[in-house]
Amino acid sequence: MGTKDTSQLRLPLAISRKSAAYVLKNYRYLQKDPGFFLMKTVARFEVAREWVTREPPFRRREPVGTTSAIVQSQHDAAEVVSTLRNEGYYVGLQLAPEVLAELVAHSEETTCYGDRDPALALRIGEREEFERRLGRPLKLASYFKQQEEWPIFRQLREDPLLQAVSRAYLGCEPVYLRSELAWSFPYRATAADKRAAAQVLHCDINDYKTLKFFFYLTDVGPENGPHAYIKKNPRQRTALHQLLGQRCASLSEAQLLQTYGTKQLVTVCGAAGLGFAGDPYYFHRGTTPLKGARLLLQLELGCRRYRTWYFDV
Ligand SMILES: [Fe+2]
Repeated sequence: MGTKDTSQLRLPLAISRKSAAYVLKNYRYLQKDPGFFLMKTVARFEVAREWVTREPPFRRREPVGTTSAIVQSQHDAAEVVSTLRNEGYYVGLQLAPEVLAELVAHSEETTCYGDRDPALALRIGEREEFERRLGRPLKLASYFKQQEEWPIFRQLREDPLLQAVSRAYLGCEPVYLRSELAWSFPYRATAADKRAAAQVLHCDINDYKTLKFFFYLTDVGPENGPHAYIKKNPRQRTALHQLLGQRCASLSEAQLLQTYGTKQLVTVCGAAGLGFAGDPYYFHRGTTPLKGARLLLQLELGCRRYRTWYFDV
């Protein structure tokens, strides 16, 4: 009888523990930055996103004629912005060869950290030997924020084309928020691994609108962990999915594709140097590589920097 009583209590206990953690987390957000708390609560709704980021037509700063010495684009900047507004993503940027070479050289010379663990420091060229000593394969290796010190990264961050596209898409003077440079390696990923590594379709709500730039620093084919996204059109996000916000990550890919259309799923493959831009509000995911190793650089820009963020509390 005692065992039965305990098992009957287990679920309500787990629910109340989860609810308490949720309330505490939100209380901390509220304490640190009420603006962040408000944003994370309402920016999931399209009407709030559009209303907060609306810009009167006379103030619109379309990126006419902007070019860059280090990032080429298949289309002019105005077309890039128009595609972002219509489809949520634009694929067709390209790093200049010398920029790609410099970023790759830095990544080879700089210590990275296996599975984002500061205790697992390695150079990427030593990975095989490192995994042998560790007795297991690594899932990924991150440079944490070291790339932010590299002059070539700073040049990319301030690039006039990326800035102009961001300014027009976001409707504000863009603020650099964060970046990530990381390797992804092949391994047998469980469902929990995939969720933790953002390899299930999800959306990121880091502001009312943000824009991310992605650059492949290695060749990425279908088996090398390509990025994938659901094009914004033709169907608006359902009310339920807006309400769920970032919790949509718990929905299955089949459910999301049934709603928004299988044909809307785009997988981005390309040679090293390929770049693309995307609003992370639209559903996207990474993929676990089946072979090789993928090196991806990401930069995120928004309109303001909050005093807290999801991983800070
Ligand atoms: Fe994401």
